[in-house]
Amino acid sequence: MDRIDTETKVLGLVGDPVSESLSPRLHNRVIEKSGLNYRYFAFPVRKGGLKQAIHGARELGVKGLNVTVPHKKEAAELMDLLSPSATAMGAINTVIFTDDGKLKGDNTDWRGFTESLKLHGFTPEGKSCLVFGAGGGAAGVVFGLVREGAERIDLVNRTEAKAGKLARRMEGISPGVKLEVRPISGYDLGKRIENSELVVNATSVGMGSTEGQSIWDDSSNFHSEQIVYDLVYQSLPTEFLELAAAAGAETIDGLAMLILQGLGSLELWTGRDFTSSRMVDELREYLGGDGSRE
Ligand code: ATR
Repeated sequence: MDRIDTETKVLGLVGDPVSESLSPRLHNRVIEKSGLNYRYFAFPVRKGGLKQAIHGARELGVKGLNVTVPHKKEAAELMDLLSPSATAMGAINTVIFTDDGKLKGDNTDWRGFTESLKLHGFTPEGKSCLVFGAGGGAAGVVFGLVREGAERIDLVNRTEAKAGKLARRMEGISPGVKLEVRPISGYDLGKRIENSELVVNATSVGMGSTEGQSIWDDSSNFHSEQIVYDLVYQSLPTEFLELAAAAGAETIDGLAMLILQGLGSLELWTGRDFTSSRMVDELREYLGGDGSRE
């Protein structure tokens, strides 16, 4: 990397904790490979300190921030402007400091998801999809599928009310999409999985204390005409993806989305295009073998 000088632009991540984040390595690798005079840092910001941190960053001339747990919702409320995706999700992962001093919030999670599908030759338009989960990860997935015009989306979550709330946020974005909230048991969910061209695990099952577990454990519902996607990016391949792969399904793990949402933020800050399958493969290799988390 070139030397740091007075022109070097600062980017960073605010969250708590940030010590295990992959983002600094990811962004600085792209910066290095692209010859940009930027650097990306991890800033631990406690709950209650977000507003001061963002306003302070603006005063210091920071060019952009990523936002992670636990600040994604509060950060959206601090923005002067929100992109349509951030408005729909009610959460941001990217702050852009505009030239006229405004705070603009965006959310690149959904784009990371849809771009990774495209790299696998899958376009959601007109497709039947099933999503497990209703948290922040699921919001990006569902927004992406709705925006890209999926024909139907079954939204399956342990807490149905949370899925209902997420579904209501998506109302009016693409009126043709059939979005149905479903419970996680008590009916023939297996059949619904079989009939879906895309099945996504957007729950946290498979990471942390549930490592080795799968949100769905009947591999007979997976088949070779499907893409099965797991947002979990640790302890790969996850049990969910192993079951799907054993049944012949094409699988995608969470590292692809993690990389692509990061590239999406970098594109918003720099105005340059970094997304390509070659860049994703390179970053996957660079980040691989490290058990850390975003
Ligand atoms: P994130 O922002 O990473 O999506 P989150 O907002 O905490 O995280 O959401 C976690 C998701 O995983 C939720 O959909 C959660 O289901 P509930 O809404 O019912 O809590 C789901 N989840 C977590 N542990 C689960 C488990 N053991 N079984 C089923 N679903 C689980």
